[in-house]
Amino acid sequence: MASSSKAVTIDDLRRLALRRLPKFVSQPLETGSGRGEGPARNVAGFADLRFLPRTLSGHHTPNLSTPLFGKQYDQPFGITPIGYADYYRRNADLELAQAAREANIPFVLSGGSIACLEAIRKIAPQQTWFQLYGARDPAITRDIVRRAQNAGIEVLVLTVDIPVSPKNDWLTRRGIKLPAHVPARQLPFVAWQLLSHPRWTRDLIAAGGFPTMESWRQYAGARANAPQIYTYYRSQVPCPLSWRDVESLRNLWGGKLIVKGVLRGEDAVRALDLGADAVTVSNHGGNLLDCLPSSLEMLPTVREAVGDRIPVFFDGGIRRVKPQGILRLTHESAQESVEKACVQFDALGRHQAEVRPAEAARA
Ligand SMILES: Cc1cc2nc3c(=O)[nH]c(=O)nc-3n(C[C@H](O)[C@H](O)[C@H](O)COP(=O)(O)O)c2cc1C
Repeated sequence: MASSSKAVTIDDLRRLALRRLPKFVSQPLETGSGRGEGPARNVAGFADLRFLPRTLSGHHTPNLSTPLFGKQYDQPFGITPIGYADYYRRNADLELAQAAREANIPFVLSGGSIACLEAIRKIAPQQTWFQLYGARDPAITRDIVRRAQNAGIEVLVLTVDIPVSPKNDWLTRRGIKLPAHVPARQLPFVAWQLLSHPRWTRDLIAAGGFPTMESWRQYAGARANAPQIYTYYRSQVPCPLSWRDVESLRNLWGGKLIVKGVLRGEDAVRALDLGADAVTVSNHGGNLLDCLPSSLEMLPTVREAVGDRIPVFFDGGIRRVKPQGILRLTHESAQESVEKACVQFDALGRHQAEVRPAEAARA
């Protein structure tokens, strides 16, 4: 399969993307942290999921349009945040925003984006949400929140599951630090990877080198170049957060607030009690620690804990659903409720799905 138009599943798209990327980019993307068991566990969770059909239920055309936070989206899923996305595909943030606008689905712009949040909001005014990582300097966090509010963003996604930088065994062993630190002994390998992945290399050269994190330019200093801005960003993010930070953000941010990266029911309830409008059950794609449970494993517990009070979003490990697909996740909760999860993929084959109780899904 040579082109994305021939892709049947998200996994097909994933394989195409991997062929395009040099190994030093694709390997950590695939394996996340440690040995890579986290992403694999997320995917494996779906292999054991079975669908139990209800027969003879008549003909009906499913209506996938979804009311959410006062808006009507065409699908009950959106595009999950991917930091530094242009590293994988040039102009990824812009293309994802355009795709989200055309499909009328939410696009969560990463707090570690390349494109500026103000520019992305202009491309997709109705669909752009913004994901926030707390910065070590609280003045920067406050300023980013202010900018999001001034730009007209209505939904803020606070990611809480990355208190420290993940470590990937493969990269550590080779001494490579992304995006651009390569020890001398690895130069022949990296050179070979660049030559054997000419499209990625050509895009890198055409754009004048590594992408610039436009949203962070003003904090790193007007004269900082792309690597200096990235280095400054990494000195600020990740930053360990506490519940007090959620509380402060709730007081600061007037729009909708989603807490992303929750795996325990009690944490979801606490976020809700502090004024969050939704939570995302996620283990960051298994990218922080490879010993965490899969997000699918923890989904029923979280839904059970918060009941129907808030939307519960979900991501992690979805690889085989067709673009038009709706996935029903059935679990044995106290109410034996049926959850509806809907999925979408972005340029990297990553997804974020919204999960709602069956009653809401049928409404
Ligand atoms: C390369 C990469 C970059 C990511 N960047 C972010 C980010 O900036 N903010 C965030 O909240 N999550 C980020 N995530 C996590 C995703 O939003 C999502 O939770 C996860 O990838 C879902 O799992 P999946 O990859 O199995 O679909 C990133 C994940 C990957 C693989």
